[in-house]
Amino acid sequence: MNDSPLIWVINGPNLNKLGRREPEIYGSKTLDEINKGLLKISSFHSINLKFFQSNHEGELVDLFHSVGEEPPAGFIFNPGAFSHTSIAIRDAIGTLENVPFVEIHLSNIYSREKFRHFSYFSDIADGVICGLGYLGYEYGLNFLIEKITNGSSKT
Ligand code: DQA
Repeated sequence: MNDSPLIWVINGPNLNKLGRREPEIYGSKTLDEINKGLLKISSFHSINLKFFQSNHEGELVDLFHSVGEEPPAGFIFNPGAFSHTSIAIRDAIGTLENVPFVEIHLSNIYSREKFRHFSYFSDIADGVICGLGYLGYEYGLNFLIEKITNGSSKT
């Protein structure tokens, strides 16, 4: 699958704790289990996936810079709490040219505290999925695969 399109799956802070962290909000699946589900979908469609999770803002900035050196076909990104704070990561994504991405939140950020209602990524994302738990990752990946394969999946 070396010549297959590449999609990155990128997660921000505290998401390494999934499964154990507030399962009533974020669900009982670990990040590893979510990623394994994504691999099943990607291998069916002959898509390569790469995974990255960090609790550190600068590491996420650096990751986006290195992603830009070999631009992927797309990425899905759950920025975690950096959704609500990080202009630096937004700007790092801004250095990528024409790379579609879907912003994912397991929880419905609009039914939670007010400070979670704003995200620095939503207006630059191709789409935003929130409140659907781990399925949001699967739907986001399927959207990108459809977009890569058919050019668009919005029409
Ligand atoms: C989150 C929502 C954020 O507000 C929170 O800080 C997270 C996870 C979600 O997946 O629902 O860490 O992005």
